[in-house]
Amino acid sequence: MARKFFVGGNWKCNGTTEEVKKIVNVLNQAEIPSEDVVEVVVSPPYVFLPVAKSLLRSDIKVAAQNCWVRKGGAFTGEISAEMLVNLDIPWVVLGHSERRALLNESNEFVGDKVEYALSQGLKVIACIGETLEQRESGSTMAVVAAQTKAIADKIKSWDNVVLAYEPVWAIGTGKVASPAQAQEVHAELRKWLAENVSAEVAQTTRIIYGGSVNGGNCKELAGQADVDGFLVGGASLKPEFIDIIKSAT
Ligand code: G3P
Repeated sequence: MARKFFVGGNWKCNGTTEEVKKIVNVLNQAEIPSEDVVEVVVSPPYVFLPVAKSLLRSDIKVAAQNCWVRKGGAFTGEISAEMLVNLDIPWVVLGHSERRALLNESNEFVGDKVEYALSQGLKVIACIGETLEQRESGSTMAVVAAQTKAIADKIKSWDNVVLAYEPVWAIGTGKVASPAQAQEVHAELRKWLAENVSAEVAQTTRIIYGGSVNGGNCKELAGQADVDGFLVGGASLKPEFIDIIKSAT
């Protein structure tokens, strides 16, 4: 069964109301493939989720960039999965490397977050990826397998999970992984899923690439057998994000 191409736009900690409206306007005007060809999800900062959702065309969905690990309560500053559901926000990005690094989010913590978000009915873009040091030491697959295992150990179903492989050394650096590098890790991740979860999960789970994707490199990356789409940072704030969406094969 063909896996539907998936393009996510992670706006990170950027924007003003005016800038959000400008980006949404560009997206709303764009000619993009239909929803049965490509699934498009953009992820504004929390504070802009309602306005972005209210203005966006119906075939582009929204995601939060994070949510808390359990039911809301005395967790100052956190946003709960229940709140996202209440706002009818269908997706959430979890385990982004910037949160793993800056906020010490462990593999176990990310696994718990993914499980709780799914339990509340959210769909999850689960991020994994190795650092340059880990790649140079030859431990890329050991690292991403451990990150994936921490999620697999906690969840009952992969139906609402998109796995985003984002090599940390490619994020925000302009040093995009080569198509061969991306394909190698994606294929290994699919093999890991087949051996440790099930053949069906391996076949149906979208594994998307993130890390310096742009309008110039997206087509070749999209042509790789196990690259099922992208999670785009900087370029998702620019009109070239439309070109990346159109790279859907
Ligand atoms: O989540 C996607 C992001 O980490 C990639 O960032 O700017 O390298 O596309 P960028």
